[in-house]
Amino acid sequence: MKTIQLQNTAVPALGLGTFQLEGDTALNMVQAALAMGYRHIDTAQMYNNEEAVGAAIKASGVARQDVFLTTKVLPSNLAKKDFLPSVEESLRKLKTDAVDLLLIHWPNAEVPVAEYMGELMKAREKGYTRHIGVSNHTTALLDQVLATGADIITNQVEYHPFLSQDKLYQYLRAHGIALTAYSPIAHGKVMGNATLQQLGEKYDKNEVQITLRWLLQQDGVLAIPRTSKESHLQSNIDVFDFELTQEEMQQIDALKQADNRLISPSFAPDWD
Ligand SMILES: NC(=O)c1ccc[n+]([C@@H]2O[C@H](COP(=O)([O-])OP(=O)(O)OC[C@H]3O[C@@H](n4cnc5c(N)ncnc54)[C@H](OP(=O)(O)O)[C@@H]3O)[C@@H](O)[C@H]2O)c1
Repeated sequence: MKTIQLQNTAVPALGLGTFQLEGDTALNMVQAALAMGYRHIDTAQMYNNEEAVGAAIKASGVARQDVFLTTKVLPSNLAKKDFLPSVEESLRKLKTDAVDLLLIHWPNAEVPVAEYMGELMKAREKGYTRHIGVSNHTTALLDQVLATGADIITNQVEYHPFLSQDKLYQYLRAHGIALTAYSPIAHGKVMGNATLQQLGEKYDKNEVQITLRWLLQQDGVLAIPRTSKESHLQSNIDVFDFELTQEEMQQIDALKQADNRLISPSFAPDWD
């Protein structure tokens, strides 16, 4: 497993996303993932599965300190009075004293950036998380985040071969912040793409594996694909035994489009 050094932690570059995995499915998939060698799990208050994720980690037999666990604070919990109590509830559900990474899931136009970043830093001071970060933050919002002095390790955003994040990526690189790619396989839509298929034939890999390899070969990029199937779990982690050439990386880069988002709810910020 490739790791990316973020502050004092070697973070596994490939993790398991758990959006829409609930109850027994979340429990079974997280346990299966840990048994297969995944050591990075991404959940959120929004996903309604923190209890199942916590139970799966406990039941897996893998030591808690060997799993990089992320959760995210709901936009409706960003105000000062709600923030820390919501994190305490997450920790109870996750059955852990601290997560490895606590993210602001989405900005909330009603709550100033300085207010929620202050609470996020307090959460770390209290030992509720080892690292802090944000999600769905644009370069304009990141300017405000960095102005608070917060040393975030990542911005988790939509990124896959059909969506350009060039402006945001350059910004993050310039500030030494990682980009965690969500919806990294475009909800499975990478399957059937001719360019990815052709490269797959060369390496005996499928389009999802080529996509994950393309993401993980970029500096400072992590990816958290989600699946509800054990066979996909296994094939999604089987991406560390080949390497795309520079030319092949560029062939995939050429698929990117400026505005081809899968996820843009009404409360989303003004994207870059
Ligand atoms: N911060 C945010 O606002 C935000 C937003 C969205 C997502 N996320 C995080 O990012 C994670 C991943 O994003 P996502 O869930 O939106 O989408 P995704 O990982 O791009 O796609 C998931 C879909 O791909 C399919 N799939 C997985 N592996 C496959 C394979 N090997 N072959 C064919 N199909 C495959 C899955 O179906 P099967 O179940 O059939 O495998 C599922 O329908 C989420 O789970 C969540 O943790 C964060």
